[in-house]
Amino acid sequence: QTADSLHIINAFAQQFFSKQLFESEEGQAIALSYLKERGFREDIIHKFQIGYSPRQRDAFTSEALRQQYNPELLTKTGIVAERNGELMDNYRERIIFPVHNNTGKIIGFGARIIGKKENAPKYINTPENEVYVKSKILYGTYFARQSIDKNDECLLVEGYTDVVSLHQAGIENVVASGGTSLTQDQLRLIKKYTNNLTILYDGDAAGVKAAMRGLDLALEEGLNVRLVLIPDNEDPDSYVNKVGAAGFNEFIRNNKKDVILFQLEVMLKDAGNDSTKKAAAVNTIAESISRINKVEDFTRKQDYIKKSAELLKIDEAGLLTLVNKLTS
Ligand code: CTP
Ligand code: MN
Ligand code: MN
Ligand code: MN
Ligand code: MN
Repeated sequence: QTADSLHIINAFAQQFFSKQLFESEEGQAIALSYLKERGFREDIIHKFQIGYSPRQRDAFTSEALRQQYNPELLTKTGIVAERNGELMDNYRERIIFPVHNNTGKIIGFGARIIGKKENAPKYINTPENEVYVKSKILYGTYFARQSIDKNDECLLVEGYTDVVSLHQAGIENVVASGGTSLTQDQLRLIKKYTNNLTILYDGDAAGVKAAMRGLDLALEEGLNVRLVLIPDNEDPDSYVNKVGAAGFNEFIRNNKKDVILFQLEVMLKDAGNDSTKKAAAVNTIAESISRINKVEDFTRKQDYIKKSAELLKIDEAGLLTLVNKLTS
């Protein structure tokens, strides 16, 4: 049915884009050189099946039509678009990151512009279709599963290049949310493999905010969440390139924060001597703790109450009462 057809077209397109990257003069000159300049090795480019979509407006489309692929299905994949009644390529002069499902089939693509351009989006992503459902996709799961299992931990990053660079550095238990806020379906996917989620987001305000938005959902799913903020306008990709694999691992080891207590620290710092803000912090943290609903997490809940009461300099029993009141 449709899903199979879309998989087949995507597989065909991936081969086309890979060939363009490695074998065409244009691909080598524009795209392969760009990837190598950024530090990506050929073996890792092959592993993630990264490719290049040429500048010519119908490079892929004409090839696909010549091979009798159905125009309607081609359009559905998002690789081909109709403009003024004409079919042409939707991704032009871009690096192509295939997105795989859990069995390794290609369900979509992320197409990155080469270098910086003013008036074009950095990434173009596959539109929603029978096989590409954004809210259920985590980039990299197919390549990360074994390692998540082995480490009993899943690292969550923002982007395609973060996943690829960390793999290259030997850190394979990593998936990407694609820069939008985490969904319950994505968290359930992680929960199937491990209870331990470590969020690696940018240390800037947007990154902290994004991490915090995911937190309550993750707690509701019963995940044990920790947080690492990547410093100084870096992301995991740029940071691992800067400090190397060993340096990166050490940074993670030393900067993993329990996310509930981290949230509390941030709020307390912001509150200072303001008693209204401090009271609000007590409520927020009680709210977060009350979301740990799993019976088997009872000791974890107690531990949070103890540590939070300490940080807040309030009575443990009082906090417990508040948490219980909020727990439905
Ligand atoms: N993203 C997107 N559309 C955009 C910008 C970002 O879909 N216009 C998603 C992509 O999945 C991207 C992620 O958000 O990988 C994070 O965005 P960003 O940090 O801007 O990109 P990087 O992944 O860091 O890519 P690069 O290192 O190549 O700049
Ligand atoms: Mn090769
Ligand atoms: Mn950022
Ligand atoms: Mn980034
Ligand atoms: Mn980046």
